[in-house]
Amino acid sequence: ADNRRESLMVVSNYAARFFQEAMWETPEGKSIGLSYFRERGFTNETIKKFELGYSPDQWEAFTSEAIKNAYQPDFLIESGLSVKRDNGTLYDRYRGRVMFPIHGFTGRVIAFGGRTLKTDKNVPKYVNSPESEIYHKSNVLYGLYFAKKSIRDEDNCYLVEGYADVLSVHQAGIENVVASSGTSLTVEQIRLIGRFTKNITILYDGDAAGIKASLRGLDLILEEGLNVKVVSFPNGDDPDSYIRKVGSSAFKTHIEQNKKDFILYKTSILLKEAGNDPIQRANVIREIVESIAKIPDSIKASVFIRECSQQLQIDERILLSELNKMKLGRA
Ligand code: GTP
Ligand code: MN
Ligand code: MN
Ligand code: MN
Ligand code: MN
Repeated sequence: ADNRRESLMVVSNYAARFFQEAMWETPEGKSIGLSYFRERGFTNETIKKFELGYSPDQWEAFTSEAIKNAYQPDFLIESGLSVKRDNGTLYDRYRGRVMFPIHGFTGRVIAFGGRTLKTDKNVPKYVNSPESEIYHKSNVLYGLYFAKKSIRDEDNCYLVEGYADVLSVHQAGIENVVASSGTSLTVEQIRLIGRFTKNITILYDGDAAGIKASLRGLDLILEEGLNVKVVSFPNGDDPDSYIRKVGSSAFKTHIEQNKKDFILYKTSILLKEAGNDPIQRANVIREIVESIAKIPDSIKASVFIRECSQQLQIDERILLSELNKMKLGRA
């Protein structure tokens, strides 16, 4: 089994080199792949550091080169780099896409995300590697290998949605950033971050999906006993597009000025929806106490109860009795 894992890593690293060469050293790669990344504002330094690449727009460019170099079909298929036709022959999964290698803990490539350059709505924007013996999506964070030192130094981890967000935030000088690409945030990913810091700051997209994901993520993080803050972006922007719009230094200012603890964040989101309706406002309060009830540390929870009581002007004793009811309900 260890041999299989090793072979899968070897073929994935070979593929990463292939996609890099195809981007830097072929006319098609330079004019399509490299110029795409440049137009998005990524520097050569960033492109090289993250080992970005390009998959030629042909059916078998990668697969035939890999077979020529004696890589076994079995591993090409299991890694997801090649796909088997009904007649048994293989073709490339990634064709005409810009390639984001996903690095494991030790910096070796274990999977890929490939972005289409087409604007056709029927084409999936990102194609990701399937699960394999070396790639369990739920345990992997994109960018962690490049972020881990900074996460420790800063004692905080920024969490974004996408590959491009990781690259842009990193390039802006904030290196403690990762994305939960390929899945919505999992408990395993939170525990992985927890090895480096107990503090997570969510920077999700400023759209309905991003807000919904942030509320879900926030509860999961609290349940794991970590601290969470959230920064919102204007509707329609994600960290990557916002950096491109305002520049690195205004981006950093935005983060500092809009960092909210989860109570403030939830309150601001939910109260907006509730308006002046008293029943809906009561539900908002209940939802916030529900989040507080997830915090395993009861001293921390009581501090948040006090904050909630002050912000929403509700008697602390009432909140505490709600909190206890919820905890009993769960036990
Ligand atoms: P850009 O347009 O390159 O900036 O992408 P984005 O990261 O802003 O994409 P978006 O906000 O739509 O989605 C966030 C993340 O979800 C992406 O980085 C991908 O990891 C994933 N994702 C988006 N679209 C798809 C898709 O069509 N298929 C799959 N499997 N994942 C997707
Ligand atoms: Mn798995
Ligand atoms: Mn989005
Ligand atoms: Mn984006
Ligand atoms: Mn996005």
